[in-house]
Amino acid sequence: MSHQTVVILDFGGQYNQLIARRVREQEVYCEVKPYSTPAEDLKALNPIGIIFTGGPNSVYDPAAPQADPELFRLGVPILGICYGCQLLAHSLGGQVSPAQGGTAREYGKTETFFDSSCKLFQGLPAESVTWMSHGDYMERIPQGFRLAAHSAACPNVAIADEARGFYGVQFHPEVNHTPQGAAILRNFLYEICGAKGDWTMEDYKNTAIRRLREVIGEGKVLLALSGGVDSSVAAALLAEAVGPQLTCVFVDHGLMRLNEGDEVEAAFAKWDIRFVRANAEERFLSRLAGVTEPEAKRKIIGEEFIRVFEAEAKKLGKVDYLAQGTIYPDVIESGAGDAAVIKSHHNVGGLPDYVDFKEIVEPLRLLFKDEVRTLGRELGLPEYLVARQPFPGPGLAIRVIGDVTKEKLDMLRQADFIFRDEIAKAGLSGTMSQYFAVLTNMRSVGVMGDGRTYDYTLALRSVTTSDFMTADWSRIPYEVLDRVSVRVVNEVPHINRVLYDITSKPPATIEYE
Ligand code: XMP
Repeated sequence: MSHQTVVILDFGGQYNQLIARRVREQEVYCEVKPYSTPAEDLKALNPIGIIFTGGPNSVYDPAAPQADPELFRLGVPILGICYGCQLLAHSLGGQVSPAQGGTAREYGKTETFFDSSCKLFQGLPAESVTWMSHGDYMERIPQGFRLAAHSAACPNVAIADEARGFYGVQFHPEVNHTPQGAAILRNFLYEICGAKGDWTMEDYKNTAIRRLREVIGEGKVLLALSGGVDSSVAAALLAEAVGPQLTCVFVDHGLMRLNEGDEVEAAFAKWDIRFVRANAEERFLSRLAGVTEPEAKRKIIGEEFIRVFEAEAKKLGKVDYLAQGTIYPDVIESGAGDAAVIKSHHNVGGLPDYVDFKEIVEPLRLLFKDEVRTLGRELGLPEYLVARQPFPGPGLAIRVIGDVTKEKLDMLRQADFIFRDEIAKAGLSGTMSQYFAVLTNMRSVGVMGDGRTYDYTLALRSVTTSDFMTADWSRIPYEVLDRVSVRVVNEVPHINRVLYDITSKPPATIEYE
């Protein structure tokens, strides 16, 4: 590709992906690589700069991760962050020790003083807050380095060897708690590494299209389109690259939100591709009839999905490529080992075993979610697809608690639409990560007109989160909740009560099942 590359060497810190995103936000392309990657391999990427991330270890621990010493001889600028800074100091002859008695050990927001004659801090105010989290301390800095920032507790907050282009900071410039962090990263990229800012989505799109054409040639491509952001953008990119050779199979399981199936279909009408919408609502609902256990529902939906997809794929005969909307966080995380399974998430990941194809193409493999959205816009996908909130593979079946019927799904679809509509009208859509309605299995007594009702209770759920691993419930203004509640009980038959969920994750999960 034509663009410059920065390498982020991953030492296992919790903010490593964030560093990569911050670099790309500055329009500089970067890739995250394991710390053990040989210098030779990194050299092949022709990087303009290398960033060492933070990590949980202490550099003087014999088992601590080290970088290939050859890296220091590549003539490429290096920025070490936190552990990365200590590693830089340690590897180049400095002395790193545990902080003694509270001095030099720092956690949290720390007033920091910058030497703005250092290129890294050029143009910054002399004093600003940084986010620290380190228990180790650079007792002696290596030869050739000078101090470039300090705090009240610690004289060595940043070190610089400007001749070699080596810099280290004890704090985390990538987090929002460091207000000058973006400016510092920008200085590293533009002033020190000579970045040109050539990572733009338009460039990416054109290059990706060219590459897909080269790789796929005359081949036939099959893609399972779920209507989610990733598979939709992958489909649009492929449609642009090899349109007539592409078949998208969209399994409509009847568990989508209001009008969603039609919206997905409409979004792809402008491309000359083969779009197969498998209307399988009846098939899914009959298999789900009477099933109440959440994991059983998920399993049935996952299996049924594969069967329907397989049946459609068979009609095509042999395909050459199976396309998937895998994105960069999936790729980076894949080496991290499995966490405990709380819910068996269903998505289209398990398909390759069931379809006869030669190879997999993953055109979004190097993109973060926000970049995928930008690319989607660049490709002209409508905003309702591109800005779509996450939606579980099993769809509304896990938002109807207990047994799933068409009547309940229709009730939920209407109520969920009202909730989303009122959130949009109140201008709150951008402030929440995920918001939806759940049809509980609870019925209760109400009064409507002069009559008694005995109807369903709807729960509203809205959360704010950056990673979906933990989440806080959203503080939706009472007036908005009130409008939703009034509309739902008036407009949706058989719902007579609306509750708002004020539980965070943990201990609750985001979905109910
Ligand atoms: P939980 O409920 O586990 O949800 O807190 C975390 C995030 O994952 C989504 N989710 C799913 N996504 N298939 C998916 O593709 C699934 O089976 C599934 N279950 C939950 C959920 O909507 C939230 O964004």
